[in-house]
Amino acid sequence: MEFFGKEIEKWFDEYGRDLPWRKTKDPYLIWISEVILQQTRVVQGFDYYMKFKTRFPNVEALASAEEDEVLKYWQGLGYYSRARNLHAAAKSIQGDFPSTYKEVLALKGVGAYTAAAICSFAYDMPYAVVDGNVYRVLSRYLGISTPIDSSLGKKEFSDIAQELLDKNNPAKYNQAIMDFGAIQCVPKNPACEDCPLVDSCYAYAHQMVSDLPVKKGM
Ligand code: ADE
Repeated sequence: MEFFGKEIEKWFDEYGRDLPWRKTKDPYLIWISEVILQQTRVVQGFDYYMKFKTRFPNVEALASAEEDEVLKYWQGLGYYSRARNLHAAAKSIQGDFPSTYKEVLALKGVGAYTAAAICSFAYDMPYAVVDGNVYRVLSRYLGISTPIDSSLGKKEFSDIAQELLDKNNPAKYNQAIMDFGAIQCVPKNPACEDCPLVDSCYAYAHQMVSDLPVKKGM
């Protein structure tokens, strides 16, 4: 594996967060957690996840519930279409949770990011997650100024993310880069002096840390 992935995973061993949805390989629970975290911060999502999984511990429990009750468990999280989509998708699942990337991606409310998270975390499939954290880390480390909100940028970053992915441990690598972006390579005033990648970071060497990533819609 490349230097980048090795360092990120080493960092994760020391500073990675111990989160409840990381203690399971159950694709259903990982799906629930990822949908909650689509538009909700970890601290807020935590309690919702715990209560949701207690009341709806598996696909069958969710599929057979009334929509009103599902929505009640979402009360306060906002973006209620997420809960409606979860419920509809649970009803659409016949038997086991889908086990291919294509089938997971076809679930209502699941996009490329969430499908990659589910398939890598639950099934150890080699799909790189690309979210805001990943855009920030990769744009800075490699010095990529292509706007992240352009179709060219999306393609470029997802290609690079896929290339850098630790194919031997996609679950660990994906969680590592996610946490690295959330804790170390933060949007404002990151502590670059403490960063294990500082010596090979393009943005740091070129005083571009605060200029990356680039968004054209700004
Ligand atoms: N944000 C989205 N998915 C996440 C995860 N699995 N852990 C922490 N933050 C996340």
